[in-house]
Amino acid sequence: MSTGLQIGRDGRLRHLLTMEGLPRPLLVEILDQAERYADGGHGDKKWPVLHGKTVVNLFFEASTRTRTTFELAAKRLAADVVNLQVSASSTSKGETLLDTLKTLEAMQVDMFVIRHEASGAAHFFAQHAAPGVAILNAGDGRHAHPTQALLDLFTIRRHKPDFSKLSVAIVGDALHSRVARSDIHGLRTLGTRDIRVVAPRPLVPVGIEQLGVKVFHQLEPGLDGVDVVILLRLQKERMLGAFLPSTGEFHRDFGLSRERLAGLKPDVLIMHPGPINRGVEIEGDVAYGERSVILEQVAHGVAVRMAVMAMILGDGA
Ligand code: NCD
Repeated sequence: MSTGLQIGRDGRLRHLLTMEGLPRPLLVEILDQAERYADGGHGDKKWPVLHGKTVVNLFFEASTRTRTTFELAAKRLAADVVNLQVSASSTSKGETLLDTLKTLEAMQVDMFVIRHEASGAAHFFAQHAAPGVAILNAGDGRHAHPTQALLDLFTIRRHKPDFSKLSVAIVGDALHSRVARSDIHGLRTLGTRDIRVVAPRPLVPVGIEQLGVKVFHQLEPGLDGVDVVILLRLQKERMLGAFLPSTGEFHRDFGLSRERLAGLKPDVLIMHPGPINRGVEIEGDVAYGERSVILEQVAHGVAVRMAVMAMILGDGA
């Protein structure tokens, strides 16, 4: 997959497909731009930089927060927004996608936000999109979820701005997680050296160490001294085989409980992209407890998505 596709010859962001290879200055610019939209996006406040532009949210997979925050982001920038929830056909995916793209393009769409179960779907769209039509990846299979990584980085930066000093543990179902991959690329780009993947053996992707992370198969040592814990949902819908004996066992060995939280640094940040499986990877009172920034992540999703949309479609917004 070409990662160069998302940057134009002028160095500007054209599409957002992956965190892999996204240059540090562009990444930081997105986070900086998002600062102006964060905290002030309520009420009537609009930044009409996308006035007259049309954004289509094209979701082939279920989504609550990602789709809603993309919609809110586009609306707060005064774009016209269309939401399409499509059930993916497993046959002739390529053809179907291309037909969908061309049909919608004929309606003068400026930007597609696409979520699809197939890794590479957003790249496919970007390769075939007409010049000037932008593609934002809202999650493709197990591959990438760049705006989730950006909102995670934005949330971390607001609490702990020096990424080079951070220890970050990513805990749980890394095998099926596009969030884990995108977070790892983003953290590396910002200079974090101590990134850990903490998971039972069957849920660790083969070769993940090559991304510069350390793998732990036990929670206690994996969480020792960390500043940030990113919990991942057990993605039962992607588990074709038997990866785990039971969710109860997973919770016993890897679930974040009150007692385990008490053993972590007092200023640790607890994060989760949502949706959470209560009582599996995290207990309900930890998810909404004082160390949790899970709802901040949701709020920041709007600001970060506004920043990306404005940088791609706005005239120097
Ligand atoms: C994530 C996703 O869809 O990849 N959720 C999200 O976008 N907020 C993670 C998940 O589904 O577990």
